[in-house]
Amino acid sequence: MSNSIPVITIDGPSGTGKGTISGMLSKELGWHFLDSGALYRLVAVGAEKKGISYSNINDLVDFALAMEVQFSTQFDGSIELNGEEVSALVREESSAGKASQVAAIPEIRQALSKRQRVFRQPPGLVADGRDMGTVIFPDALCKFFLTASPEERAQRRYKQLINKGLSVNLRALLQDIQARDERDSNRAVSPLVPAEDAHVIDTSDLSIDEVFTQVLLITRQALTKST
Ligand code: C5P
Repeated sequence: MSNSIPVITIDGPSGTGKGTISGMLSKELGWHFLDSGALYRLVAVGAEKKGISYSNINDLVDFALAMEVQFSTQFDGSIELNGEEVSALVREESSAGKASQVAAIPEIRQALSKRQRVFRQPPGLVADGRDMGTVIFPDALCKFFLTASPEERAQRRYKQLINKGLSVNLRALLQDIQARDERDSNRAVSPLVPAEDAHVIDTSDLSIDEVFTQVLLITRQALTKST
Protein backbone atom coordinates (compact mmCIF):
# COMPACT_ATOMS: atom_id res chain seq x y z
CA MET A 1 0.00 0.00 0.00
CA SER A 2 2.71 2.49 1.06
CA ASN A 3 4.52 1.64 -2.19
CA SER A 4 1.98 3.64 -4.14
CA ILE A 5 3.05 6.73 -2.21
CA PRO A 6 5.75 8.53 -4.23
CA VAL A 7 9.19 9.19 -2.77
CA ILE A 8 11.95 11.48 -4.02
CA THR A 9 15.37 10.63 -2.55
CA ILE A 10 18.20 13.15 -2.24
CA ASP A 11 21.47 11.58 -1.15
CA GLY A 12 25.05 12.74 -0.96
CA PRO A 13 27.71 13.91 1.47
CA SER A 14 27.23 16.93 3.73
CA GLY A 15 27.84 20.42 2.36
CA THR A 16 26.34 19.69 -1.04
CA GLY A 17 23.16 21.61 -0.25
CA LYS A 18 21.03 18.49 -0.11
CA GLY A 19 19.35 19.44 3.18
CA THR A 20 18.35 22.84 1.78
CA ILE A 21 17.24 21.38 -1.56
CA SER A 22 15.23 18.62 0.15
CA GLY A 23 13.47 21.16 2.35
CA MET A 24 12.69 23.41 -0.64
CA LEU A 25 11.37 20.48 -2.66
CA SER A 26 9.14 19.13 0.09
CA LYS A 27 7.70 22.62 0.60
CA GLU A 28 7.17 23.12 -3.14
CA LEU A 29 5.38 19.77 -3.52
CA GLY A 30 3.61 19.94 -0.16
CA TRP A 31 5.08 16.54 0.76
CA HIS A 32 6.50 15.12 3.99
CA PHE A 33 10.19 15.45 4.71
CA LEU A 34 12.61 12.94 6.24
CA ASP A 35 15.93 14.23 7.56
CA SER A 36 17.49 10.79 8.09
CA GLY A 37 20.83 12.23 9.22
CA ALA A 38 19.01 13.78 12.18
CA LEU A 39 17.95 10.30 13.33
CA TYR A 40 21.58 9.13 13.41
CA ARG A 41 22.58 12.33 15.17
CA LEU A 42 19.78 11.81 17.73
CA VAL A 43 20.93 8.27 18.51
CA ALA A 44 24.49 9.52 18.98
CA VAL A 45 23.71 12.52 21.20
CA GLY A 46 20.84 10.81 23.04
CA ALA A 47 22.95 7.76 23.90
CA GLU A 48 25.76 9.98 25.06
CA LYS A 49 23.39 11.94 27.32
CA LYS A 50 22.26 8.65 28.85
CA GLY A 51 25.83 7.44 29.31
CA ILE A 52 25.46 4.60 26.80
CA SER A 53 28.79 3.74 25.20
CA TYR A 54 28.87 3.33 21.41
CA SER A 55 30.44 -0.08 21.93
CA ASN A 56 27.41 -1.25 23.93
CA ILE A 57 25.43 -2.22 20.85
CA ASN A 58 22.49 -3.84 22.67
CA ASP A 59 21.71 -0.73 24.73
CA LEU A 60 22.37 1.51 21.74
CA VAL A 61 19.87 -0.42 19.62
CA ASP A 62 17.29 -0.38 22.45
CA PHE A 63 17.73 3.37 22.63
CA ALA A 64 17.40 3.81 18.85
CA LEU A 65 14.18 1.79 18.83
CA ALA A 66 12.62 3.47 21.86
CA MET A 67 13.63 7.14 21.47
CA GLU A 68 10.69 9.47 20.99
CA VAL A 69 11.40 11.96 18.25
CA GLN A 70 9.29 14.94 17.27
CA PHE A 71 10.26 16.90 14.16
CA SER A 72 8.58 20.27 13.76
CA THR A 73 6.30 20.42 10.76
CA GLN A 74 6.83 24.21 10.50
CA PHE A 75 10.17 23.99 8.66
CA ASP A 76 11.82 25.79 11.58
CA GLY A 77 14.18 22.88 12.21
CA SER A 78 13.13 22.25 15.81
CA ILE A 79 13.56 18.67 17.06
CA GLU A 80 12.47 17.14 20.35
CA LEU A 81 14.09 14.03 21.76
CA ASN A 82 12.13 12.38 24.57
CA GLY A 83 10.34 15.69 25.18
CA GLU A 84 13.45 17.87 25.21
CA GLU A 85 14.27 20.45 22.50
CA VAL A 86 17.67 19.41 21.18
CA SER A 87 18.01 20.97 17.73
CA ALA A 88 21.05 23.14 18.55
CA LEU A 89 22.91 20.18 20.05
CA VAL A 90 21.96 17.90 17.17
CA ARG A 91 23.18 20.43 14.58
CA GLU A 92 26.61 20.83 16.20
CA GLU A 93 29.59 19.81 14.08
CA SER A 94 30.69 17.38 16.80
CA SER A 95 27.32 15.59 16.64
CA ALA A 96 27.87 14.89 12.93
CA GLY A 97 31.12 13.06 13.68
CA LYS A 98 29.44 11.07 16.44
CA ALA A 99 26.53 10.25 14.12
CA SER A 100 28.88 8.85 11.53
CA GLN A 101 30.34 6.53 14.19
CA VAL A 102 26.97 5.08 15.18
CA ALA A 103 25.89 5.01 11.53
CA ALA A 104 28.65 2.51 10.79
CA ILE A 105 27.03 -0.03 13.16
CA PRO A 106 24.84 -2.41 11.09
CA GLU A 107 22.43 -3.06 13.99
CA ILE A 108 21.77 0.68 14.33
CA ARG A 109 21.08 1.04 10.60
CA GLN A 110 18.69 -1.89 10.86
CA ALA A 111 16.94 -0.37 13.90
CA LEU A 112 16.47 2.96 12.12
CA SER A 113 15.39 1.57 8.74
CA LYS A 114 11.81 0.83 9.84
CA ARG A 115 11.50 4.20 11.55
CA GLN A 116 12.53 5.89 8.32
CA ARG A 117 10.01 4.02 6.15
CA VAL A 118 7.18 5.18 8.45
CA PHE A 119 7.69 8.69 7.04
CA ARG A 120 6.28 7.48 3.70
CA GLN A 121 2.84 9.02 4.05
CA PRO A 122 0.45 10.56 1.50
CA PRO A 123 0.73 12.65 -0.57
CA GLY A 124 4.47 11.87 -0.81
CA LEU A 125 7.89 12.04 0.82
CA VAL A 126 11.17 13.80 0.13
CA ALA A 127 13.93 11.82 1.88
CA ASP A 128 17.35 13.34 2.58
CA GLY A 129 20.30 11.13 3.48
CA ARG A 130 23.08 8.83 2.36
CA ASP A 131 21.28 5.60 1.48
CA MET A 132 17.72 6.73 0.79
CA GLY A 133 17.80 5.71 -2.88
CA THR A 134 19.99 2.62 -2.46
CA VAL A 135 18.61 0.95 0.67
CA ILE A 136 15.63 2.61 2.35
CA PHE A 137 13.50 3.55 -0.67
CA PRO A 138 14.96 1.62 -3.63
CA ASP A 139 11.61 1.99 -5.44
CA ALA A 140 11.65 5.80 -5.23
CA LEU A 141 10.03 7.65 -8.11
CA CYS A 142 13.07 9.82 -8.63
CA LYS A 143 16.56 9.71 -7.10
CA PHE A 144 19.18 12.43 -6.82
CA PHE A 145 22.78 12.28 -5.68
CA LEU A 146 24.40 15.64 -5.00
CA THR A 147 28.17 16.00 -4.91
CA ALA A 148 30.70 18.85 -4.54
CA SER A 149 34.43 18.94 -3.96
CA PRO A 150 35.50 18.58 -0.29
CA GLU A 151 37.14 22.05 -0.48
CA GLU A 152 33.92 23.69 -1.67
CA ARG A 153 31.89 21.87 0.99
CA ALA A 154 34.30 22.97 3.72
CA GLN A 155 34.08 26.59 2.46
CA ARG A 156 30.27 26.49 2.57
CA ARG A 157 30.23 25.06 6.08
CA TYR A 158 32.84 27.63 7.16
CA LYS A 159 30.67 30.50 5.93
CA GLN A 160 27.58 29.06 7.63
CA LEU A 161 29.35 28.75 10.99
CA ILE A 162 31.01 32.17 10.74
CA ASN A 163 27.62 33.70 9.97
CA LYS A 164 26.32 32.07 13.13
CA GLY A 165 29.07 33.90 15.02
CA LEU A 166 31.07 30.74 15.75
CA SER A 167 34.84 30.65 15.54
CA VAL A 168 36.00 27.88 13.24
CA ASN A 169 39.12 26.73 11.46
CA LEU A 170 38.79 25.99 7.76
CA ARG A 171 41.57 23.40 7.69
CA ALA A 172 40.06 21.52 10.63
CA LEU A 173 36.65 21.59 8.93
CA LEU A 174 38.13 20.18 5.72
CA GLN A 175 39.85 17.43 7.68
CA ASP A 176 36.60 16.57 9.50
CA ILE A 177 34.73 16.44 6.18
CA GLN A 178 37.35 14.18 4.62
CA ALA A 179 37.39 11.85 7.65
CA ARG A 180 33.60 11.61 7.62
CA ASP A 181 33.50 10.99 3.84
CA GLU A 182 36.07 8.26 4.25
CA ARG A 183 34.07 6.58 7.03
CA ASP A 184 30.72 6.98 5.24
CA SER A 185 32.01 5.78 1.86
CA ASN A 186 33.96 2.79 3.08
CA ARG A 187 31.71 1.29 5.71
CA ALA A 188 30.54 -2.28 5.07
CA VAL A 189 26.81 -1.55 5.36
CA SER A 190 25.01 1.02 3.20
CA PRO A 191 28.10 2.92 2.09
CA LEU A 192 27.65 6.37 0.59
CA VAL A 193 27.32 5.62 -3.13
CA PRO A 194 24.87 6.89 -5.75
CA ALA A 195 22.05 4.54 -6.72
CA GLU A 196 22.54 3.22 -10.25
CA ASP A 197 19.46 5.10 -11.38
CA ALA A 198 20.25 8.35 -9.54
CA HIS A 199 20.60 11.72 -11.24
CA VAL A 200 24.06 12.85 -10.11
CA ILE A 201 24.47 16.64 -9.85
CA ASP A 202 27.82 18.26 -9.08
CA THR A 203 26.89 21.41 -7.16
CA SER A 204 30.45 22.81 -6.80
CA ASP A 205 29.83 25.68 -9.23
CA LEU A 206 26.06 26.01 -8.90
CA SER A 207 23.95 28.22 -6.67
CA ILE A 208 21.19 26.68 -4.57
CA ASP A 209 18.60 28.14 -6.98
CA GLU A 210 20.36 26.59 -9.98
CA VAL A 211 20.43 23.18 -8.31
CA PHE A 212 16.80 23.52 -7.27
CA THR A 213 15.73 24.41 -10.80
CA GLN A 214 17.36 21.22 -12.14
CA VAL A 215 15.92 19.05 -9.36
CA LEU A 216 12.43 20.44 -9.78
CA LEU A 217 12.48 20.00 -13.55
CA ILE A 218 13.52 16.33 -13.32
CA THR A 219 11.00 15.72 -10.53
CA ARG A 220 8.14 17.26 -12.50
CA GLN A 221 9.05 15.13 -15.53
CA ALA A 222 9.06 11.97 -13.36
CA LEU A 223 5.72 12.90 -11.82
CA THR A 224 4.16 13.51 -15.23
CA LYS A 225 5.46 10.16 -16.52
CA SER A 226 4.06 8.31 -13.50
CA THR A 227 0.50 9.58 -13.93
O1 C5P B 1 23.19 14.35 6.94
P1 C5P B 1 23.87 14.54 8.25
O2 C5P B 1 25.12 15.36 8.17
O3 C5P B 1 22.96 15.02 9.31
O4 C5P B 1 24.32 13.06 8.68
C1 C5P B 1 25.17 12.84 9.80
C2 C5P B 1 25.83 11.48 9.64
O5 C5P B 1 24.83 10.45 9.72
C3 C5P B 1 26.52 11.24 8.29
O6 C5P B 1 27.87 11.63 8.27
C4 C5P B 1 26.41 9.74 8.13
O7 C5P B 1 27.46 9.07 8.79
C5 C5P B 1 25.13 9.38 8.86
N1 C5P B 1 24.01 9.12 7.96
C6 C5P B 1 23.91 7.87 7.39
N2 C5P B 1 22.83 7.55 6.63
C7 C5P B 1 21.87 8.44 6.39
C8 C5P B 1 21.97 9.75 6.93
C9 C5P B 1 23.07 10.06 7.70
O8 C5P B 1 24.79 7.04 7.57
N3 C5P B 1 20.83 8.09 5.66
